[in-house]
Amino acid sequence: MSSDLGSCRPINHLIDRKINEDTATGEEFCLELSIMTKVREIHDFYFKEAKRKGYAARSAYKLLEIHEKKNLFRKGDRVLDLGCAPGAWLQVSCQLIGPTKVGGLIVGVDLKAVKKQSKFWDDRIHTIEGDAFASETAEAIKALADGKLFNVVLSDMMGSTTGHRSTDHLQSVHVARGALALSQDYLVPGGALVAKVFEGAEYHSFVGECRELFKKVKGFSPMASRKDSTEMYVIAQDRKPIE
Ligand SMILES: C[S@@+](CC[C@H](N)C(=O)[O-])C[C@H]1O[C@@H](n2cnc3c(N)ncnc32)[C@H](O)[C@@H]1O
Repeated sequence: MSSDLGSCRPINHLIDRKINEDTATGEEFCLELSIMTKVREIHDFYFKEAKRKGYAARSAYKLLEIHEKKNLFRKGDRVLDLGCAPGAWLQVSCQLIGPTKVGGLIVGVDLKAVKKQSKFWDDRIHTIEGDAFASETAEAIKALADGKLFNVVLSDMMGSTTGHRSTDHLQSVHVARGALALSQDYLVPGGALVAKVFEGAEYHSFVGECRELFKKVKGFSPMASRKDSTEMYVIAQDRKPIE
């Protein structure tokens, strides 16, 4: 994977620049335009790669990057994926928990139905169509988990965005807080949570809330994320002992 991502790295630093629209010169606007073109090229790159490799969406590369950076999955892990449609993170989880002979379980939940994919998919993947926060969903998860806890909880959940930065940020923090609360019901001590959140005023308080429950917490912006958005993943590892 690293070599595939490597071809995007040289242009990545450019994308982090933002011009001030009130004071920008024509030259700076041209640079901004060329940066936006590069952003589109990166999106196209991941989109094409995902299609070529058989992933349901380019978001697969976000989780691959998170794992590459933080060594999230172990062989035979039990994974709960909240907001799993169309299924790319289910596929990546399936790849990273090792072959079927080592065991493991992957439970995905989404408001939308999820189609079985032809690659990186086996019988360890189970999906539930429903609201992650509904009590029926909790029952269905517990039945599939057979009374056992999970090693990793993933939340890429997001409702429709409005395009209004602070509204979308607050909505994302609300959902991420819900995922953090659910992680306390489902994670083993030592387990990990990855939760998507858009950066904004509440971001640092959310990270602080995670730090109360996990020993290691870091924000991460994968290259495969839209660099023109504020999308971050809070990676919380090593859940503190359950009191
Ligand atoms: C960005 S997509 C997830 C992509 C997924 N990680 C993948 O790689 O295929 C976000 C998903 O969250 C789901 N979602 C939003 N709110 C939800 C909720 N309350 N319960 C379950 N799913 C939810 C949406 O239906 C949507 O499919």
